[in-house]
Amino acid sequence: MKTTRSVILGTGASLPRRVVTNDELSKMVDTSDEWIVQRTGIKERHLAGEGETTATLGLAAAKAALSDAKLEARDIDLIILATSTPDHTFPATATEIQSALGTTQGVAFDLQAVCSGFVFALATADKFLTSGSHKRALVIGSETFSRILDWTDRSTCVLFGDGAGAVVLEARENLGVIAERGVITTHLRSDGRHKGKLYVDGGPSSSQTVGHLRMEGKEVFRHAVGMITDVIRDAFAAAGIGASDIDWFVPHQANRRIIDASADKLGISRDKVVVTVEKHGNTSAASIPLALDAAVRDGRIKQGQLVLLEAMGGGFTWGSALIRW
Ligand code: ACO
Repeated sequence: MKTTRSVILGTGASLPRRVVTNDELSKMVDTSDEWIVQRTGIKERHLAGEGETTATLGLAAAKAALSDAKLEARDIDLIILATSTPDHTFPATATEIQSALGTTQGVAFDLQAVCSGFVFALATADKFLTSGSHKRALVIGSETFSRILDWTDRSTCVLFGDGAGAVVLEARENLGVIAERGVITTHLRSDGRHKGKLYVDGGPSSSQTVGHLRMEGKEVFRHAVGMITDVIRDAFAAAGIGASDIDWFVPHQANRRIIDASADKLGISRDKVVVTVEKHGNTSAASIPLALDAAVRDGRIKQGQLVLLEAMGGGFTWGSALIRW
């Protein structure tokens, strides 16, 4: 039976110029390279400087993904930007990127699901493309978390970084079998009861401020592995596959210990896990497309392989996506 799938045609990434090591952070707050590496696996992160924003980083990643896909901005009719750190409260930063790309056709909007944002945006784009309403999508994850961190709070400021990644998707007809390219299945969840464990203590309507990120790290850790593995099992069940069928596991890059524990619990071999957290820290919605781009560029992810994405973040929100690359 003929059906439509969203096929990934290109990836792109963009990181701020400035790299900040753990040693450099230890001059700002009472921490150490040893503590950060042992608890999180993070060694360094990129932090946005003057002139670098969620829009500029997202634009650069979008341009790189378009170039990788050998397409022009005018070929795109859907832009979804996953971000929790927009340039302005409104308009959507996606429309700023659309304008900077020089296009006016189609639709551009932001989507906010914190660290799960990229998986939520990918699933949303997939629904648009497979419904037949749109033909080609740019899905971008771009964040400047450095601008919502409390730089006096050592328990959070060492964990995050800035950056952007993007993918280009195209609706293509196929027979809907697992061997064919495209997004095979996506699974999204949320549970707002967990708000207090990971949130920003400001916002336009509540305090008229931007606010700072607040987190109960232990509580987030406690829930993360169970939520991640549940939603991956949903993907396995929907596709009729198991852990051994996966070629690459590209998880949200929050913390090396969460990544390892999730892979182990699912029985995914660690040499199939793409890990970039040591160089980027947690870049929230940007972390998965940044990791995807790194693994495509260095030749690990190849056309025809089965790639599994997962993310979990504030809300809580969590989700998975299974893609034949
Ligand atoms: N440097 C040195 N010491 C620190 C630091 C730091 N940067 N931060 C906290 N500490 C201290 C604490 O004050 C505490 O000291 P105390 O025992 O004297 O009170 C000690 O280290 C232990 O603190 P804990 O919070 O218990 O440390 P834990 O082992 O839980 O590790 C961490 C903290 C890394 C945040 C962990 O809980 C974690 O990884 N949580 C997951 C959070 C996460 O990844 N969030 C990302 C967003 S959500 C997502 O993307 C999935």
